Amino acid sequence: MKYSYEQLEQFDKQYVWHPFTQMKAYVEEKPLIIERGKGSYLYDVDGNRYLDGYASLWVNVHGHNDPELNEALHEQIEKISHSTLLGSANVPSILLAKKLVEIWGGNLSKVFYSDTGAAAVEIALKMAYQYWQNIDPVRYKHKNKFISLKEAYHGDTIGAVSVGGMDLFHRIFRPLLFERIEVPSPYVYRMDEYGDEEEIVNYCLKQLEETLEQRHEEVAGMIVEPLVQGAAGIITHPKGFLKGVEKLCRKYNVLLICDEVAVGFGRTGTLFACEQEDVEPDIVCLGKGITGGYLPLAATLTTEEVYSAFLGEVHENKTFFHGHTYTGNQLSCSVALKNIELIEKRNLVSDVQRKAQALAGKLQKLYELPIVGDVRQKGLMVGIEIVKDKKTKEIFDRSEQIEHKIILEARKRGLIIRPLGPVLTFIPVLAMKEEEMEIAVDILFDAIAEMVKIKQI
Ligand SMILES: Cc1ncc(COP(=O)(O)O)c(C=O)c1O
Repeated sequence: MKYSYEQLEQFDKQYVWHPFTQMKAYVEEKPLIIERGKGSYLYDVDGNRYLDGYASLWVNVHGHNDPELNEALHEQIEKISHSTLLGSANVPSILLAKKLVEIWGGNLSKVFYSDTGAAAVEIALKMAYQYWQNIDPVRYKHKNKFISLKEAYHGDTIGAVSVGGMDLFHRIFRPLLFERIEVPSPYVYRMDEYGDEEEIVNYCLKQLEETLEQRHEEVAGMIVEPLVQGAAGIITHPKGFLKGVEKLCRKYNVLLICDEVAVGFGRTGTLFACEQEDVEPDIVCLGKGITGGYLPLAATLTTEEVYSAFLGEVHENKTFFHGHTYTGNQLSCSVALKNIELIEKRNLVSDVQRKAQALAGKLQKLYELPIVGDVRQKGLMVGIEIVKDKKTKEIFDRSEQIEHKIILEARKRGLIIRPLGPVLTFIPVLAMKEEEMEIAVDILFDAIAEMVKIKQI
């Protein structure tokens, strides 16, 4: 039976509680109900088509409904969909682990699977903590804290929220969380008083060094989103910051955890963001783009050194007691493997670099609009900060919902994007064509211009 838009709308509003969504406002609007996708486009149940300017929450790599990815899934589903990885193995998870280690191409040699980015982060935190306890529980008894950046976002489970630094999302949960040590992050647009990019990086690293000097004996690890803090509003870090963090972690004997959940798999113009600063973390979290946007899968990669600390006799209890029911799921792993093969075969990473450059030129015209304060870009991750006043950088009151109204204007014109606070984000399907991206930027321009007109700015 085919349901009409009206019926689906009614069921949606009656039964579904949407994530990160104020439902009181949601039920007053007409929901976007997606039925299918092809390439860079999403189609709603009435057949209207939209450019996917948020890559379906930053996951989509090759476009929707890719014949080769579909084929990989069909092939696997004919064999088996799932069997457990607890104490036994399966073919796609073995081959994918081998591939992940090969494409990382550095110091990481072991893969621990899970199913969401937040879980990959939980695993990284527990792994880092237990690593120190396993190697010397007396000497490292106080190493039970983590450092993270101001405005950090690492997912929504309690451990991941504990290392989060976004007041809006995380403040309410503080009483439930473990203690975190916050250090400043180089948010250049809003740090005028600290000088130029280089001075801002130096300031942030100096603060980190002072913190580590005083507290390194309590710190198990530092977690960082390499190059770009995505959920914070596409805060792009100037060159040298990540490398500086790595050096300080080494100097003060603290594990470095790089959360590549958002930036991994080509998004920033290299396969992994860490490559751009030649950084070798102790632990890396992967998710989102790992399956090309097909199925939930995440992975935590680590070094031989960390892994070896967990080896021992069964009764020694050095085992990593962590695992999820769907860990290493065959369907997810087989589509992830094909996704990576296609990234290589289709030269996706160099394609992203080329398109990112063209996009950078196109984006400049947004500055003509009186409410565009900053346009930040790394690869195919773009943040457009909306301000009431370009000089003071004051933002609009949240109650005005300006950014939400802009995305509705964009949707009317055939583009789906999402705001993060005062920042509009454009995170296209990685394989989006240059012409399609040009259309998207024109729509963005028109949608913001419409808001300028309505507000008579
Ligand atoms: C950097 C980073 N880490 C972790 C996560 C959490 O991933 P998931 O939503 O798959 O749990 C996200 C999600 O946006 C993220 O951007």
